Parts: sequence; structure tokens; C-alpha cells
Amino acid sequence: MARTVTTRELYDEINAGTVPMILDVRNQDEFAAWQVEGTRPVETRNLPIWMAVEQIDDLVKEIPQDTIVVCAHGNGSDLLLDMLADEGKSCRSLEGGTAAWAELLVAKRLPTTPEGVVVWQVQRPAKACLSYVIGVPGRNAIVIDPARFPQDYIDLAASEGMTVTHVLDTHVHADHITGGPQLAEEVGATYHVPIEDTGRAPTPFANTPLEDGVEIDLGDAKVHVLNIRTPGHTPGSTCINIPGRYLITGDTVFVRGIGRPDLTGRAEELATELFHTVHDRLQPLDPATIVLPAHWSFANEIDEEGLVQTPLGHIFESTLLSEADLAAFIEQIITSLPAAPDTYDTIRLVNSGRQEASAEQLEILEIGKNQCAASTTT
Ligand SMILES: [Fe+2]
Repeated sequence: MARTVTTRELYDEINAGTVPMILDVRNQDEFAAWQVEGTRPVETRNLPIWMAVEQIDDLVKEIPQDTIVVCAHGNGSDLLLDMLADEGKSCRSLEGGTAAWAELLVAKRLPTTPEGVVVWQVQRPAKACLSYVIGVPGRNAIVIDPARFPQDYIDLAASEGMTVTHVLDTHVHADHITGGPQLAEEVGATYHVPIEDTGRAPTPFANTPLEDGVEIDLGDAKVHVLNIRTPGHTPGSTCINIPGRYLITGDTVFVRGIGRPDLTGRAEELATELFHTVHDRLQPLDPATIVLPAHWSFANEIDEEGLVQTPLGHIFESTLLSEADLAAFIEQIITSLPAAPDTYDTIRLVNSGRQEASAEQLEILEIGKNQCAASTTT
């Protein structure tokens, strides 16, 4: 058996249910902040490396064969493998550790629309973040809410002979660093982010904000991809609608839940806007349209095909989204809000070009799964 497992191999093995245990040898506070997770539960144990070394005799009795050992960069876990092997336990170490896991992107292809639009959902397990590549083979592509690793998106578009002509952030994200301006610059595409979210101030990157209802040209007259304004999670939040087919919702609505309206302050005002967005802008759309959000919160939002998606009609079955009374909606949403991580204000400033951060700071700012949902009940 190989000595190491790559991030993608581990992702596939977790999802196949063949990982007997993950032994995470980082410190307890690092483990508490976030862990390696796939789309189905896996038994995970935390024992800091120094304790694992000290307690090696007991440890070998407690962990199964083929345990995956994980540390921050893959060095400590690699060291432990030899000690475990000496005691007869054949284990593997995660190549690059949790630092590599934080950068893993997994692209999943959705059914092509009858008009010929191809759609990839790009999942980032470490953050439970989703981004999208949408385009017409041989023509143009738009990348929506990209993570800060441009090459994956460039490769996906190229695999269908598509040119990335547009890069869009549905809103200024608070939970992760956007790769939007960097990707747009690298491929010579036009970048779009709502100016209501950037504070309407000049940005260090080029930005062409999109008006409500404007069409994004994918180089094929049969194809209609529309920008629709859906304020609430943030003042400028938008969705991308491929009418009757797919609705990329950013953090406005999720498979189970709704985007929290408090991250930019003015929670009650934005909750009111969110109410009107849900009822006036989303509910009139074709209920068969497939919702493709920017996040998931729990593994039960991932379907049997490994995709985070649901028909638009289903989301209105939830208690919160079916609430017809504005005051009751605001009350429910405000009381469901968890405390926001203290890094979120800084991430918003970085994403709107108002603050700079080093590569190391970016890594630290991004630690932990997103907490963008106000409610995850059904
Ligand atoms: Fe967000």
C-alpha cells in the first residue's frame, strides 16, 4: 500500500465509505477550528503528535489498520507512520496535510441544458464553499464565486474549448478570500462584483458591476444567462439565472436555509430586503429551476450524486421561507443567527480591495467552514 494519500484520493475514499478512521495529530485548538470532512461521516480522532509519540503502545491498539494520519503539512504524520509500522500498523499519511486539504477543489458536472449550456459545480470541502463554471463549448464561459486558486477554473473551461470572458462574485464574501479579480486578470476576463458591497469606493482591481436583469453573453444567441438583484444577505447580492434551468443563488438561499443578513451590519433592514427578495424575486421563478448555492452547512445538503442542489420549489417548503408575515420572518431570522467569526470583517475588507493581506494571512483568515447561513432547518 502507498505510504501517502493525496487530498483528492482521500476525498474519494471518504465518500466511498472506505476510510476506517482519520487520526488528526494537530493541536487541539487547530482541530477544534476545522477538520478534514467529506460528504459522508468518518470516524475522526484527535491526538496531538507529541501525545501520539508518547502513547504509541496504547495508540496502536486503539486505531484500525489503514487509518489515515493527518497533520498540518504532512511531516509529523509521515514521521508517525514509521512508529506505527514498527508496531504492525500499516497506515497512510495525508500528503501536504490540512494545508493541502484547505486548497482542494473538486469539480462535478451537472446535466447540460437543452440549449447546450455546461455547468460545473466546484466544491471546496474545507470551507463547504461552492463555485461554478458555466459556458457553451467552444465559446464563452463565466466563472462564479471562484476560490483563490485560478488554475482549476482555467483548466475546466479549457477542457471544453471555452474562453473565460466573465468572472463574477455574487456578493462580497465574508467567509473566504475571493479569487475573482486575480482570475479575471490572468485570463483577461471582465470582473463583476456589486458596488453596493464594495462601499462604492474605487477598487484596486477593475470592476464592471452588472445592472439588474442584464444578460451575460456566452457567445450563443440561444443561451440566456441573467443577472438578477437579490439584496438581503448583503446589500448588493445577486443571483445568476438560466431561466427554467439553473439558478446560482450565492448566499441568498441555500438547499436548506437562507443567507444571514447581519454580516454587513443593519441586520433588520437587510432581513426586510431578504423577505422581499424571497417573495418578489425568487418565488415567481419556475419552481423546477435547480438552485445551486455558494455553500452547504451540513453533509445532508449533499445529494446522492454528490451535488449540492435542489429544485427552487422545494426551498419554499421550509418554515422560514414560507413565512408570509414580514415581522415574523424578521423575528425568526434574527433569533436564528449564530455569532459571526471575528475574521469576517477583515475578509470583507480584503475582498472589496480595501485592505491588503499576505499569503500567510490569507491562509489564516480562511480557516474554518463557512458560517454564512442564518438557518439550516428544513
Ligand atoms: Fe456570503
